[in-house]
Amino acid sequence: MATLRLGDDAPDFTAETTDGELNFYDWKGDSWAILFSHPKDFTPVCTTELGRVAGLKPEFDERDVKVIGVSVDPIDSHRAWVGDIEDVTGNALNFPLIADPDRKLADLYDLIHPNANDTLTVRSVYVIGPDNKIKLTLTYPASTGRNFDEILRVIDSLQLTAGYSVATPADWKDGEDVIIAPAVSDEDAKERFPKGWDTKKPYLRYTPQPNR
Ligand code: BEZ
Repeated sequence: MATLRLGDDAPDFTAETTDGELNFYDWKGDSWAILFSHPKDFTPVCTTELGRVAGLKPEFDERDVKVIGVSVDPIDSHRAWVGDIEDVTGNALNFPLIADPDRKLADLYDLIHPNANDTLTVRSVYVIGPDNKIKLTLTYPASTGRNFDEILRVIDSLQLTAGYSVATPADWKDGEDVIIAPAVSDEDAKERFPKGWDTKKPYLRYTPQPNR
C-alpha cells in the first residue's frame, strides 16, 4: 500500500477488536474518527497513551469523534493488557482496540516503518472526516508518547475550517481569533464575517471565531 495522504479515502476494513468484529465504515458511520496505532501491548508509553485517550472520551463525544486503536498484537494479548491500563491510569478502555496479528491493517495504513522497527507498529494517528477522507496524519516514534490535547486542538480546527472560510493560526485554541481565508475578498468578508476583522497585512486578516 502506498503512503496515505491528506484527502485520500481512508481504507475500509473488517477486523477483530476488543468490542468484537467490526467493519470500519459501518462502525464509523458519518461521524469523525481517529484511528491510532501503538507499537505493542504491555509496554509503558502505550499504557499511558491508551489510558489518556480513554479519559478523553467526553471530549471526543462532544466533537462527534469515534476513536479506535490498533496494534499487531493478538486479541488475547489486548484482553489481558486492558486491566493494566485501568490500574495505571484510572481509565477503563472505552473504545475498540483492533488486533492485527497478520498485519492486514498495518499494511493498509502503512503502520510498520521497517527502518524504525520491522515488527512493531509506529505511533500513527489518522483523523478521518465524515466523508471518510483523511484529514490529518501524524507519526511519532515508539519512544515518544503523543499529546492528545494537540489532537483535540486539531480536530477543533478541522471542524471549524470545514464550515467556514477561515484558517487557524499557530498555536490557536478554540475560542481565539481566526484568519479569514485569503481567497475571500474584503467585499465578501463583510457578509461572511459581520463581526469585522483586523488587517495585519492584506493577506492576514484576523476575525473573531465565527461560530462563537
Ligand atoms: C512503550 O510503549 O513504552 C514502547 C513500546 C515499544 C517500544 C518502546 C517503547
